[in-house]
Amino acid sequence: MPRNAQWLLHSRPEGMVSEANFEYFDAPLPELKDGQALVRTLYLAFEPAMRGWMNDAASYVAPVKLGEVMRGAAVAQVVESRRPDFKAGDIISGMFGWQQYAIVDGALDAAQNITRVPDGVPPHWLLSVLGITGLTAYFGMLEVGKLRAGDTVLVSAAAGATGSVAAQLARIGQSEKVVGIAGSPRKCAWLTEQAKLDAALDYRSENLNQRLREEFPDGISLFFDNVGGDVLDTALLHMAQNGRVVLCGGISQYNTAERPAGPANYMQIVLRRLTVKGFILFDWAEHIGKAQTELRRWLSEGRIAHAEDIQQGFENAPRTFLRLFSGENLGKQLLKIADPD
Ligand SMILES: NC(=O)c1ccc[n+]([C@@H]2O[C@H](COP(=O)([O-])OP(=O)(O)OC[C@H]3O[C@@H](n4cnc5c(N)ncnc54)[C@H](OP(=O)(O)O)[C@@H]3O)[C@@H](O)[C@H]2O)c1
Repeated sequence: MPRNAQWLLHSRPEGMVSEANFEYFDAPLPELKDGQALVRTLYLAFEPAMRGWMNDAASYVAPVKLGEVMRGAAVAQVVESRRPDFKAGDIISGMFGWQQYAIVDGALDAAQNITRVPDGVPPHWLLSVLGITGLTAYFGMLEVGKLRAGDTVLVSAAAGATGSVAAQLARIGQSEKVVGIAGSPRKCAWLTEQAKLDAALDYRSENLNQRLREEFPDGISLFFDNVGGDVLDTALLHMAQNGRVVLCGGISQYNTAERPAGPANYMQIVLRRLTVKGFILFDWAEHIGKAQTELRRWLSEGRIAHAEDIQQGFENAPRTFLRLFSGENLGKQLLKIADPD
């Protein structure tokens, strides 16, 4: 009898998430019913937001329950199908969770967010530059941030999956200057050499306040923030009058056991007449097709340098997830489980 290896949520983290919060489980393969397809996972994708789904707290999606398969996006290949819209061999992406096999059920299609991988596209791009993070960068920078030519742009976590695309969209959009913040010399070198940003600041080894003063003598007109905490606080001191702050995420606060720090410099929002706007990708679901078309064009023209960090082996799922919080990933954090047939 074939088995289905899974990673379940074992306990809710208090503070920093650890491998012990997950439990390996060897489940039987579910029996296929009419209207369902069985898919085999090829790649898993990791997002910092998954840390929030582990908390027993209300958010934009329900928490993962204890004992449930950890929720996550994946690319998978259809092994057997009893639905008319899929045949064996098709490659699709969706929220299939941390498991080697999943049932794709017509009744769950919207929840599983199923997308067929277009011809000519490497399947794992549906998890990265054409998936959640690339699309978040697209809508956050262009629609929420309303990027305009001549902007002076700062992006935090700029060598990550979302930040790297956001920063390069700012460059494509004819910003006057684009600066990225990242956590190592290797990442900063990638940002200036591969992503062609004007400058990169290492927040771990440089004085961010001083470096922002040097890079933005006339202020930041658009700040795309993935980090929150001290980085946001410091950037608020360097915003231009009427500047815009796009709040995409706040990864520096996701693993804090205590009450998260508020921005101490929040009065700068008043004094500098800033517009601060948060958003969630799901709000833009209807427009995803157009965004993917544009992103594919820029990729094919070589205007977006696309980085992925691909780890190997299903058994390494929790360990791979933790890389997001230690900053080991450059670009999109993926885990390869299997090759397609
Ligand atoms: N609003 C939405 O709909 C939406 C959708 C997707 C993602 N997001 C948000 O976008 C942000 C980036 O997500 P991603 O998937 O693209 O991840 P990512 O940037 O590829 O990976 C996370 C990066 O965050 C940095 N980081 C980790 N811990 C940090 C800390 N304590 N302080 C400062 N930086 C830290 C690390 O880079 P360094 O080495 O540079 O520190 C790490 O590589 C997250 O905040 C996420 O929640 C929002």
